[in-house]
Amino acid sequence: MFVAPGDREEILERAVRLADSSSSPEGSPGPAAATPDAPAAANAGAMAGGKSGIPAGAHLDAGLERLARVGSQAEILEIPDLPRLRAVADACQRCQLHETRTRPVFADGTPDARVMCVGEAPGQREDATGLPFVGRAGQLLDRLLTAVGLGRDRVFICNVLKCRPPGNRNPLPEEIEQCSPFLLRQLELVDPAVVIAFGTFAARTLLGSTESLGRLRQRTHLYEGRPLVVTYHPAALLRNPGWIRPTWEDLQRVRSILDGDGQEESMEHPEGSR
Ligand code: URA
Repeated sequence: MFVAPGDREEILERAVRLADSSSSPEGSPGPAAATPDAPAAANAGAMAGGKSGIPAGAHLDAGLERLARVGSQAEILEIPDLPRLRAVADACQRCQLHETRTRPVFADGTPDARVMCVGEAPGQREDATGLPFVGRAGQLLDRLLTAVGLGRDRVFICNVLKCRPPGNRNPLPEEIEQCSPFLLRQLELVDPAVVIAFGTFAARTLLGSTESLGRLRQRTHLYEGRPLVVTYHPAALLRNPGWIRPTWEDLQRVRSILDGDGQEESMEHPEGSR
């Protein structure tokens, strides 16, 4: 979607107003606020495989069914395509979160996107619909992406965790360890030109770093040879609208990279990946 530069400020202002009007920010730094009114269309979309073009319900043969129960990380990383990866994620019982989830949240957007957005974990509304970022944080994310000319139809959106942590608590290290192979395989199969890590969990998981978000934001990283930009999580922006403009500036950096005038020289490789 083309957005004229003049309109981008207007969209940003609307994003700030959305954050300012937020009366019920999330309880945790990550997942989106729970709202009970998930649109029927989103629900239907999730049933049908979301808008991601990745069909739900690829046949779960005995081999895939075993992966969903006890597959190793190496085996998840060898799943050959997104429909089968999704089928295994949808049936996954490899960590305790399967006991409390309503449905796993695999992804939304387009599998041939040039930009991949990575969040933390589904919130209540995402758990109900099966789609990532559909609560208030998601609305804000949509506006910010639109402000830099990237609608939902131009990106691939997913999370570090595919299942909601109860009460939107922070992901546990063992949950990240079990679930991150799905994310890493999504990255390989989508093969985006740029990755955006929203929030500390996405950034640290992808970069293998323990640095603070503030420091990680200061430079463009390289993940498996592709630029990775770290920015604030949209849910954090709902609580701190003053961070919206810096986030927008981070997203402008993504835009510049896509447009070919990015700052490759200042890119950094994640720890241990050279
Ligand atoms: N927060 C996230 O990190 N992911 C979602 O999908 C929704 C809220």
